[in-house]
Amino acid sequence: MHAPHNTPTIFLEGKKTILRPLNKETDIPSLVTWINDPDIRRFIANYLPFTISMEEQWFESRSKDTHHHIVLGIEARVDDEYVFIGTMGLHNIDWKHRFLTTGAMIGEKKYWGQGFGTDAKMTILDYVFNTLNMHKVCSDVISYNKRSLNYSLHCGYNVEGVRKKHFFQQGRYYDVIELGLFKKDWLPIWRAYQKTGRVK
Ligand SMILES: CC(C)(COP(=O)(O)OP(=O)(O)OC[C@H]1O[C@@H](n2cnc3c(N)ncnc32)[C@H](O)[C@@H]1OP(=O)(O)O)[C@@H](O)C(=O)NCCC(=O)NCCS
Repeated sequence: MHAPHNTPTIFLEGKKTILRPLNKETDIPSLVTWINDPDIRRFIANYLPFTISMEEQWFESRSKDTHHHIVLGIEARVDDEYVFIGTMGLHNIDWKHRFLTTGAMIGEKKYWGQGFGTDAKMTILDYVFNTLNMHKVCSDVISYNKRSLNYSLHCGYNVEGVRKKHFFQQGRYYDVIELGLFKKDWLPIWRAYQKTGRVK
């Protein structure tokens, strides 16, 4: 397999994605399209309209605060090209207790359900546990987000609790599922993934 001809900057390399720093000039229009999209908003809890200038401010504040937040762009390897499809974030990093919260968004919807999220997640978890030396990774999933729940469970997360009727959407309240992941539960899945490209 030869290298795609539009190889971007690579920060982390997975099997079918690479994770790279975001680029203010070129990425913001895609980010604004994605976070305003009703099909995506319902999963990421955004309910306000986001403009380019709001996104630029978000970008500036995040870039200055890598101590607490690290957000990377996901590029999927598709045919002979890399395609910018979403973001993978590490949030509320706590360096004393050594935990953080992951958050992912694949904004290009046609790439949902093809394993790109799993690949990006496994790749960032390698960074989280083996470079940042985190003890625990958390994630919150709204109960109707089955795709997100499934891919997190496949990566080794366990359900730690359920916040009942916690999230209001389309006229009713939904539960929020709280997930947690320890390195010991992720490591065997990571070893298998490196060999076979499969998490289960
Ligand atoms: C959640 C998200 C990052 C997952 O990435 P992805 O590339 O779509 O996920 P994958 O293809 O790696 O895995 C999805 C898993 O869910 C399963 N799945 C796909 N569609 C599903 C559906 N409608 N219902 C239930 N499970 C589904 C897939 O089969 C796969 O499980 P499998 O390994 O058993 O086959 C991505 O879909 C996304 O960004 N969605 C919108 C925003 C969002 O929900 N962000 C997360 C907020 S917590």
